Amino acid sequence: MDDYTFLTTMGNVAASVTVVTTFDESAEPIGLTVSAFSSVSLDPPLVLVCLGKEASSLEAIRLRGGYTVNFMAAGTGDLALTMAERSDDRFAGVAYDSPSTEVGGPILTDSIFAFFECVVESEIDAGDHVIFIGRVLAGEFLRERDPLVYWRRGFVEVSH
Ligand SMILES: Cc1cc2nc3c(=O)[nH]c(=O)nc-3n(C[C@H](O)[C@H](O)[C@H](O)COP(=O)(O)O)c2cc1C
Repeated sequence: MDDYTFLTTMGNVAASVTVVTTFDESAEPIGLTVSAFSSVSLDPPLVLVCLGKEASSLEAIRLRGGYTVNFMAAGTGDLALTMAERSDDRFAGVAYDSPSTEVGGPILTDSIFAFFECVVESEIDAGDHVIFIGRVLAGEFLRERDPLVYWRRGFVEVSH
């Protein structure tokens, strides 16, 4: 498989946008935009996220032992880009709520339709990425809103 075919194909696969958050060892909020999210199991409730091995949030997730998956709503593309920027302080000026569990990360309440707080159940080495399988300990479906979708290198809105 050549890189071009792989990347072009994946670029044409529409993906829901999440922001995966946690707290670092100084209790500072940290996180990144992630489209590589999937539901895994209902009983028990498991999800997975794939993070690049170079991602700055990796170590913080390992240390805290968990993360929050924020399911981004339509119209929040600017925040999703902020959370993907190379910056030491992606959370500057960003409002968030605290998680209810010891392992969860910041909840971007105003920008999401739902969130899951997850404890890391297992970590799988996968090429240039790491897969964190998380057990959902808490979460809320906050409101019906269209999702933020990433497709062909841009954010698109879907509705029906
Ligand atoms: C729409 C979109 C989807 C992304 N999906 C992922 C992803 O699934 N996994 C990942 O590791 N990085 C993903 N990224 C890149 C990260 O958000 C981030 O830019 C990268 O991890 C570098 O972050 P760092 O500075 O914390 O290392 C995505 C970026 C965007 C804009």
